[in-house]
Amino acid sequence: MSDKKIILSGIQPSGAITLGNYLGAVSNWVKLQNDPESLYECYYMVADLHALTVRQEAKVLRKRVLDTYALLIACGLDPEKTMVFIQSQVPAHAELAWILSCYTQFGELSRMTQFKDKAQKHKDNVNAGLFTYPVLMAADILLYQADLVPVGIDQKQHLELARDVAIRFNNTYSPTFKVPEPFTVKETSKIMSLTDPTKKMSKSDTNENSTIAILDDRDTIIRKFKRAVTDSFAEIRFAPGEEGREGVTNLLSIYSAVTGRAMDACVSEFSGKGYGDLKLAVGEAVSDALAHVRERFAEVSADKAYLERMYTENSQRAQYISNKTLSKVYRKVGLIR
Ligand code: TYM
Repeated sequence: MSDKKIILSGIQPSGAITLGNYLGAVSNWVKLQNDPESLYECYYMVADLHALTVRQEAKVLRKRVLDTYALLIACGLDPEKTMVFIQSQVPAHAELAWILSCYTQFGELSRMTQFKDKAQKHKDNVNAGLFTYPVLMAADILLYQADLVPVGIDQKQHLELARDVAIRFNNTYSPTFKVPEPFTVKETSKIMSLTDPTKKMSKSDTNENSTIAILDDRDTIIRKFKRAVTDSFAEIRFAPGEEGREGVTNLLSIYSAVTGRAMDACVSEFSGKGYGDLKLAVGEAVSDALAHVRERFAEVSADKAYLERMYTENSQRAQYISNKTLSKVYRKVGLIR
């Protein structure tokens, strides 16, 4: 057996992938894949079953799943060395989710803040899937015996639930699941909306000026940053947690992340300058950082045969790995396989 740490994470194909997804999650996935000491075995998936919790149009969803898959490759994941797969192509996810739902309490799921927010937003469709969504996410993680789960801060509560369910199951039977740890990079674990920097940047935001989509062109990116909401202090300072300064703090976090430079150096660069300079510099730096993703996406998404071969091979591998855990679980709970 390999002693590499297992990494698992996922992304929903529920809208255009944003700069928040990129900085908070996907760029870290690429770094873990490319770790020079090769310490990690990485599994990443397009979480299409999760996207069904909100009403989707079939044709649009199908395209988004494939585009998201291609985009992950464009961002730097290599499906020949990292298992990049599509969740619904691996039946064990739905199978384990049912079993784990019998080991998850109604009260635990009722406390999930994302459920409360989404139920509020989609009052006409508060379906059972929206409620049990964290159980499916627990199944995604536990099936692969993941050690680390690289996510943004908004997924931390779901991850704690996955840990609780794993511990409960292990205590009820015998050690079955690895208990996973979250992996977040503090500086980028919550990129904020450009129009309301007290809210996270989200792919489901209906105001497109709030988000930067990874595939936005240069002019669009620069225009959106120029319009970003800041404040009236007229002082470029990094002030996490300080009320009223969320906008500038967010711009600086983004700038530091995409340029790879330390925050102190970024702040000094703007001493004596105004918000207009900061916004322009961030827009240009983001566009530069994403340019190669846009180019690569055009190539990868055009090669349908390559994409199909990659997701088919990787989904078969994912089926093989996940079935090992599922068989163990069937045996422990008393099902005949
Ligand atoms: P999703 O699709 O909402 O987001 C994908 C990843 O992007 C992170 N993220 C952010 N990070 C920083 N700032 C933001 N504004 C921001 N917005 C999103 C998310 O934290 C996430 O890491 N339930 C998951 C997908 C999932 C999953 C899993 C993740 C399904 N199964 C198993 C890990 C393990 C979700 O909806 O992510």
